[in-house]
This record gives sequence, C-alpha cells and structure tokens, in this order.
Amino acid sequence: MLMLREPVPAHWLPRVLSDIPAVLIDHAHLERKAATSAINLQKYRDLYGRVDELNAIAIEELQHFQLVLALLKRRGIPFGQPIPSKWISGMMRSVRPGVRFQAIDHLLVFALVEGRSCEKFQMLGEALQRVDAELAQFYASLVESEGNHYATYILMARGIDAAEADRRLDFYLDLDAQLIREPNPLPMLH
Ligand SMILES: [Fe+2]
Ligand SMILES: [Fe+2]
Repeated sequence: MLMLREPVPAHWLPRVLSDIPAVLIDHAHLERKAATSAINLQKYRDLYGRVDELNAIAIEELQHFQLVLALLKRRGIPFGQPIPSKWISGMMRSVRPGVRFQAIDHLLVFALVEGRSCEKFQMLGEALQRVDAELAQFYASLVESEGNHYATYILMARGIDAAEADRRLDFYLDLDAQLIREPNPLPMLH
C-alpha cells in the first residue's frame, strides 16, 4: 500500500504518452540505475545482513533493464542518453551524511522512487490498453515487482532504526509531494 501524499500531476500522463520512444529510453536508464542503487546499498554496514536480498533486487532490475532494451530493439528505437531527473536529484540532495543516517535516507529515497514507479507503471498500463496493448501489458507486469521493492526498502530502513526511519519517511513524503508538483516539460517517468 503506497502512502504517497500528492497525486501524479494531471499533465504527466498526456506528456509521456506523446513521446513513448523517449519514455522507453528514460525507462531503460531508470532500471539500470535501480540495479546500481541496490548494489550501492551493499556498502552500508547496517545492510551487510541484507546483501543477498539486495542482490536479488539488483538482478530483477537488470532483468527489467534487459526487457526495456529488447522493447527498444523490437521497435527500432536506438538506446540514447539519460536525462537527469530533477525529482530524483532533489530527493538525493537531502540525503544526510553520517553512515547510519545515509543508509536510512538512501533506502527511503530509493523506496519512493520504486513507489512512484509502481504508481506510474500502473497508470501507463491502464492508459495504454487501447493504443498499445504490448506496452500496456509490459507496464502492468512490472507493477508488482516495483511495489515489492518499495516495501522492501522501507522495511530495511525500519530494520536499521524504526523511529528514525519513520521520522525521515515523513520528511521524504513531504519532499516528494513538493517536488512532484514542480513543472517538467520533458517526457520522463520521474
Ligand atoms: Fe524495475
Ligand atoms: Fe524496482
């Protein structure tokens, strides 16, 4: 169950639907970054006991990356450059120093990236049904996995320090709500 505090802005869906090739390239990079994020979390001492779980997430994200790359190939869309997301960098900017704080903050930022992906993939799965059945099915098939990653990262953060994780989650939910309202004219997932 997602606890996001602000709905996806109304202009997001028509904007991404207007340039599906660009969105697919952006999506490929998002999955690539999700895989590296899972691996990067393994550097934190507080997560040494979760290395296998983090590997499993990284492998799943790499599989998603492969699926998007295959879609790009089938559609004759060349793989392109990543576009930085202001929403993601805005969230990352508030990660605090100090090893334990950093681990909790990273987990919560990645959790909200997964949560927003889960929500947006669901929206795309529904919106694309009549225009692009293959893509609709593809997005719908990713919803559960990204939702599980969201929940796993929140549980991992709470496993380090439940009270601190809850306090920071409250902060990040407010920050997400604020940042998602900022206009972004580009056809991007985040
Ligand atoms: Fe993924
Ligand atoms: Fe994910």
